[in-house]
Amino acid sequence: MKIVGDSILRKKAEKVEVFDESLSKLLDDMVETMIFEGGVGLAAPQVGVSKMVAVVNPEPENSETLLRLVNPKITETGAETECIEEGCLSVPGIRGNVIRPVVIVLEYQDEKGNAAKMQIDGIVSRIVQHELDHLAGVLFTDRLSFAKKMMIKGKLKELARRTKQE
Ligand code: NI
Repeated sequence: MKIVGDSILRKKAEKVEVFDESLSKLLDDMVETMIFEGGVGLAAPQVGVSKMVAVVNPEPENSETLLRLVNPKITETGAETECIEEGCLSVPGIRGNVIRPVVIVLEYQDEKGNAAKMQIDGIVSRIVQHELDHLAGVLFTDRLSFAKKMMIKGKLKELARRTKQE
């Protein structure tokens, strides 16, 4: 798992152009890692691959709620926002409240390159927005209030320092 301080987490991920076996394998590996780490979402940069690929599953044990996203983008957002506490496998030990839109329209491709579009809300929408941030090099800690940012500054620095030592 790539931890804050690793430059790949700050890079903009590349668009997927080739829909081959290695893409399916990447998605499979990411689903496995997400389950193993006890997460509800994972973006490819977090496993060291700077590509626009993410997996999302609010119910990790339920394969029917699993989303495998290639080249995802948010094409519309509703006006209503809500403040929910988030965490991230790449920012261990830190949680914080983030304000995001409730409803979004998500467009993406599946691993074969077929286009899909859906309107989502609730926890799925929240996780998708968090994972899409990763693909743009953004971490949830960037979206915290100024006061909270000040509170976690030392912890973040310590995480980054340890990452750079490895
Ligand atoms: Ni994350």
